[in-house]
Amino acid sequence: MRLNIFNCSPRGKRSNTRVLAGAFAEGFLETEGPYGQNEVREYFISDPGEFRLASEVFGEPCVALIAFPIYVDAMPAIAKSFIEEIAAYKGRCSSTRMLFLIQSGFPEETHTRPMKAYLEKLAKRLGAPCDGVIRMGGGEGARDRVRGSKSGGKMFERYRMLGRGYAANAVLDEAILAKLAGPKRLPALLAPLVLPLANFFFWDRELKRNDAFGKRFDKPLE
Ligand SMILES: Cc1cc2nc3c(=O)[nH]c(=O)nc-3n(C[C@H](O)[C@H](O)[C@H](O)COP(=O)(O)O)c2cc1C
Repeated sequence: MRLNIFNCSPRGKRSNTRVLAGAFAEGFLETEGPYGQNEVREYFISDPGEFRLASEVFGEPCVALIAFPIYVDAMPAIAKSFIEEIAAYKGRCSSTRMLFLIQSGFPEETHTRPMKAYLEKLAKRLGAPCDGVIRMGGGEGARDRVRGSKSGGKMFERYRMLGRGYAANAVLDEAILAKLAGPKRLPALLAPLVLPLANFFFWDRELKRNDAFGKRFDKPLE
């Protein structure tokens, strides 16, 4: 069985999406499928050439994993472009088993919940069987987390186990899905810390990386 991973993060090869989908793929490759050795191919939608190639192979009889992060409470524009492109397969992709992986920076599962409903409906409209939506809160920094470490080990292992189980039974383990998705709400004491911490560890770092930290309070339109 072949797993095609369609990575729809604008960060492409540097994305958190890549390491998470990669851990799933590792588990998938560890288990032999019903038709022999499993196989994985990865397409980075942020690359125009790969976007085109991915659009051509989407409808093949295999497992299609569409993976992306939540940006500004929605899917990144390239994910939307890819979905618009594969709309051409409507009614012609019943042998493509669809899986989705979506992850948000915020930890609560509420940030990915509306997208799950959208993606399940998308598969239905395309006429492709949907085997599940993997959701994860707190995905930022996933690529910096070290495998085997306290924070990274459990996360990667969960993805590996999901991939292994999926390869064996075409089913995603519900208990693992629930653990990855994140809590419904943060404890009341923790909630006021989330924004300052997100600013400190995420947005400030992005601003510095883009040499814009000193300009963060500029009001160029005033
Ligand atoms: C421009 C931008 C907007 C984002 N907006 C959200 C958001 O609305 N909600 C959220 O939970 N996380 C948000 N995030 C955090 C990302 O979902 C998170 O960092 C994710 O792990 C990025 O994955 P990637 O490296 O695969 O692109 C945003 C990140 C960026 C860069």
